[in-house]
Amino acid sequence: MTFMWMKLLLFFGFWNIDKKVVTLAKLLYFIGEIIFHVFAFSFWNKPTRQASEYGKGLISSNAVDGSVMNDNNSCSHTTYPTDTPNWLMVDLEAEYEITSIKVLNRQDKAGDRLRDFTVSVWQYDPGPHIKYNMVDTEYCICVHYPNTAERGTWTNLTCTKICMGRFVLFVNNLDYLSICELEIFGDIYNGCSTRYLSEMNIKKVVGKRSSSPNCTLLPYEVANVYECIHQCLQMNNCISFNYGPNLINTVNCQLVRCFSHPKQDFTVDSDWIWRYLSH
Ligand SMILES: *[C@@H]1O[C@H](CO)[C@@H](O)[C@H](O)[C@H]1NC(C)=O
Ligand SMILES: *[C@@H]1O[C@H](CO)[C@@H](O)[C@H](O)[C@H]1NC(C)=O
Ligand SMILES: *[C@@H]1O[C@H](CO)[C@@H](O)[C@H](O)[C@H]1NC(C)=O
Repeated sequence: MTFMWMKLLLFFGFWNIDKKVVTLAKLLYFIGEIIFHVFAFSFWNKPTRQASEYGKGLISSNAVDGSVMNDNNSCSHTTYPTDTPNWLMVDLEAEYEITSIKVLNRQDKAGDRLRDFTVSVWQYDPGPHIKYNMVDTEYCICVHYPNTAERGTWTNLTCTKICMGRFVLFVNNLDYLSICELEIFGDIYNGCSTRYLSEMNIKKVVGKRSSSPNCTLLPYEVANVYECIHQCLQMNNCISFNYGPNLINTVNCQLVRCFSHPKQDFTVDSDWIWRYLSH
């Protein structure tokens, strides 16, 4: 199965930082969900966290408990943001290539608070890094939604870029964050990025490297060209990269995050190959 469907359910909250009380109704709901989603078992029990908790029971795991009730008590709910933006984080406990997300909004008028949000994917726990004006070199933006989500229904979004990582971070812009359900879709990451390669053409210019004077190259040491491709695809705004099979000062992969003029911004260098992404 190339596209594995995964639904993140938090079952009884055993693994969660938050405590969860399962009511009989919810339990019956869960049983229904189990029958419906048998093959999703392995994705249950995913830990979650949120910036703060608005009140008793309005815990982060409500966002991934498999319950699609959208009254405000079945949803996660933070307090008003202060020194950090409001966020909710899901730890997938393994690396995935995230392709899309769905978020279920609450139905009362406070549903209008779910707006101008960003879903990003991280390879490490974003915990201490969550702040205003985060550096986009630290994470991959799956999608930014600039509008107000419709009340009481799903907003289904395809990632503008496939993001590889373990932690999915949902950041709301300067308001309370309340999520009734968050579904995350993707493939388990198996170490190679064949999905990317089929979706993108990577064009190759042998014997040149991009060296635009106004563009800081991000240097990496990678095992092979695919890792360099992968780094570029992960990095926000990466549009091309230099790769050379030989390490030069521990660098054999340089990500370019600005337009390189095809004639001016290049150095002829037989040790390097410049590649750029095109759809
Ligand atoms: C939950 O929603 C109801 C109406 O839908 C509203 O009266 C109530 O104040 C809400 N509770 C919270 C905590 O927002
Ligand atoms: C969005 O996802 C929900 C939940 O899976 C589904 O019921 C709904 O039909 C989807 N909406 C659209 C417009 O695809
Ligand atoms: C690079 O910066 C210089 C000086 O700031 C400027 O004159 C030049 O036009 C810039 N080149 C590009 C390609 O943006």
